[in-house]
Amino acid sequence: MFDYELPMLPPNVELETKAVLKQLARSNRALAELKGYADTIPNKHILINAVLINESKDSSAIENIVTTHDDLYQAMSNTSGASLAAKEVENYRTAIWQGYELVKERGMLTTNMIIEIQGLIEKNRAGIRKLPGTVLRNEKTGETVYAPPEGEEGIRSLLSNLEKYINVDEDDIDPLIKLSIIHYQFESIHPFYDGNGRTGRIINILYLVLKGLLDSPIVYLSSYIIRNKSEYYRLLQDIRDSGEWEEWILYILKGVEEMSVETLELVKKINEEVEKMSKEIKEKLPKIYSKELIDLLFYEFYTKISYIEKGLSITRKTASNYLTALENEGFLTSEKIGKERIYQNKRLYDMIKATP
Ligand SMILES: Nc1ncnc2c1ncn2[C@@H]1O[C@H](COP(=O)(O)OP(=O)(O)OP(=O)(O)O)[C@@H](O)[C@H]1O
Ligand SMILES: [Mg+2]
Repeated sequence: MFDYELPMLPPNVELETKAVLKQLARSNRALAELKGYADTIPNKHILINAVLINESKDSSAIENIVTTHDDLYQAMSNTSGASLAAKEVENYRTAIWQGYELVKERGMLTTNMIIEIQGLIEKNRAGIRKLPGTVLRNEKTGETVYAPPEGEEGIRSLLSNLEKYINVDEDDIDPLIKLSIIHYQFESIHPFYDGNGRTGRIINILYLVLKGLLDSPIVYLSSYIIRNKSEYYRLLQDIRDSGEWEEWILYILKGVEEMSVETLELVKKINEEVEKMSKEIKEKLPKIYSKELIDLLFYEFYTKISYIEKGLSITRKTASNYLTALENEGFLTSEKIGKERIYQNKRLYDMIKATP
């Protein structure tokens, strides 16, 4: 088992089995429905940010970096006292944004981009593994299940094979099936000392964006993987041990369906809340209402005087008056952290927190 040599892509098996095609239709339908809805929303940044907070938290939790929303809130509002874990979660979120912007800009997902993403997650420039000795263990028993390829050159050639598989569609295999293959292959190459799981989960979303299945980076498998964790590890290993691809592909396809459905629900809820609050502010505080103000209030789940000042090009005094008025009417709650007053959009915050 330990001298297993990871084959190059594509896998030499029938991928489009009857069961796979059936599930594929469901997954594509759910994803397309989400995309359709998200496309109609004016300020996508609001949605993306809301979804990213939970994804960053969940994906980091798989790696045992456990934080609470409150802790994250502190890290994000740049106040001191945020835990190390919260800072790591912030790095993950930055890495997604950066990856997303790179993919949008270049229309490709390359090995160098993947190295950059992993560097942002880990906040170091170690790059590809150079030393031997990395092994994957069974989470529960600690026993070694797989030794990934060793030697930078070999790893690089596997990555360039993967890069080609990602960017050049020589076959007409559905992108969602390819997604599952890419994820397996990337995790099996395991090119880095650490952060392979998180980097692989970011590659998943970037691939969906690259292939035009989504415009905004809003569908993630992390919470699905948490809910079906032992299956996740077992199925990855089964491909290697017994060439069992179908179960793995189905696992990923079901994840895409489930997460698309859940994300659509959340996105709808957020959108409704934006509209509801917008209407209420218009009624109660007509003098300060503007669309831009609403956008700023939902941009993150907190805001500061300086953000409103800059965002609306008004004086600091006016910005401060706006926030005080919003707080008096119960739209925001504020707290003085360090020297700064931070205003929280509690409705948005509670909604994000309540997401499973
Ligand atoms: N048997 C296996 N075959 C292939 N890949 C595996 C196997 N077992 C685990 N993995 C992958 O390795 C990842 C863990 O690698 P690593 O610790 O480098 O990543 P991480 O981001 O630090 O951790 P995590 O994924 O736990 O958050 C898992 O998420 C999984 O994708
Ligand atoms: Mg790790």
